Amino acid sequence: MTTFPLFHLPLVAMEHVLCMMNPCELIDLSGVSTRVHRTVASFSRTKSKFQVVIAFTEERRISISVGDECWTLRWTEKKSEVDKNVSETNQFSKHLPKILMGAYNYIKDVLKCQLHLVYFHLDSFPNQNKLITDWLGVQAIDNIKIGNVDEETNDDLKYLGSNITVKEKFMLTTSDYKDDFQMEIPTMSSEILITNSRFINFEQFLRLKNPHIAFFRSLVTDQELNKFLKSWMACKSHLSLEAFEINVSGPEAMEIIMDLPHEETADENAEETFKKKFNNPVVENWFDIKRCDGNVATVGFRYDKHRFFMLTR
Ligand SMILES: *[C@@H]1O[C@H](CO)[C@@H](O)[C@H](O)[C@H]1NC(C)=O
Ligand SMILES: *[C@@H]1O[C@H](CO)[C@@H](O)[C@H](O)[C@H]1NC(C)=O
Ligand SMILES: *[C@@H]1O[C@H](CO)[C@@H](O)[C@H](O)[C@H]1NC(C)=O
Repeated sequence: MTTFPLFHLPLVAMEHVLCMMNPCELIDLSGVSTRVHRTVASFSRTKSKFQVVIAFTEERRISISVGDECWTLRWTEKKSEVDKNVSETNQFSKHLPKILMGAYNYIKDVLKCQLHLVYFHLDSFPNQNKLITDWLGVQAIDNIKIGNVDEETNDDLKYLGSNITVKEKFMLTTSDYKDDFQMEIPTMSSEILITNSRFINFEQFLRLKNPHIAFFRSLVTDQELNKFLKSWMACKSHLSLEAFEINVSGPEAMEIIMDLPHEETADENAEETFKKKFNNPVVENWFDIKRCDGNVATVGFRYDKHRFFMLTR
């Protein structure tokens, strides 16, 4: 086998070679020596373009993508290959979060990437949710999707809400909570989506500053939505709000919510604008409302799905 004198190449030529390598090859290469590690890392610093997804779920994976290409590292138990018994399997699961975190720390060090998306299922490693959260708390996270199936992990969820920072989208797809459950929502996230927002009362809703808010199964009432719009019009809350959607009671909701100064929308492309911003808003009535500083928002109703939409201009 001939060896390739990568490190004897002029810098530009060497960068050319590194440019052609995929992330797994770069990671492999970085293990050769401390010097190589340093070179690959400083190359990555200038080229930082990899997006990393980490899944603390049954999938246990880390994916690294660039453009349309994606490489995935998976940690499986290989039950069939080695005849592991139950206690050994549990041992392995117990260490998985640490293995994933360690692997990502190394990848980050070499590729200078940040976490594009984290999948975190609170039931997958229930005893280690705090450990994972503390680690997530010191990472730069763009998006996170959190799930659970029962309320056993409520305290962990609460801890998570107060201890992580998410830049873009914070998605909570948890299904159940204890009756008195409450948690804080990361304020820095530009977008929050909560599939069961039962725990967010009107008072907490008024405090939210996230630009894009999507609530499903919310207990905020039609009357409260009317109060919210009035508060928005008076420049008293949600000053940075751009898009908002929530469930309402039904067709009768419109009259209650719109019991305030409004007019037919002046935006002829309202339908298109809404389609771009929301998932499937076949909205039927459009209105413009005005804020005290002159800003205008268009609101719309979708009756079959009992939903209310709002978009500021
Ligand atoms: C599982 O592994 C442990 C430790 O190696 C061993 O003591 C135990 O007998 C094994 N159990 C079964 C059911 O094979
Ligand atoms: C983490 O969250 C808990 C609430 O569950 C809070 O008491 C604690 O102060 C938070 N820790 C940090 C470092 O913010
Ligand atoms: C929104 O959905 C939840 C759960 O389905 C329901 O309890 C609530 O009453 C709905 N909101 C309104 C304003 O009707």
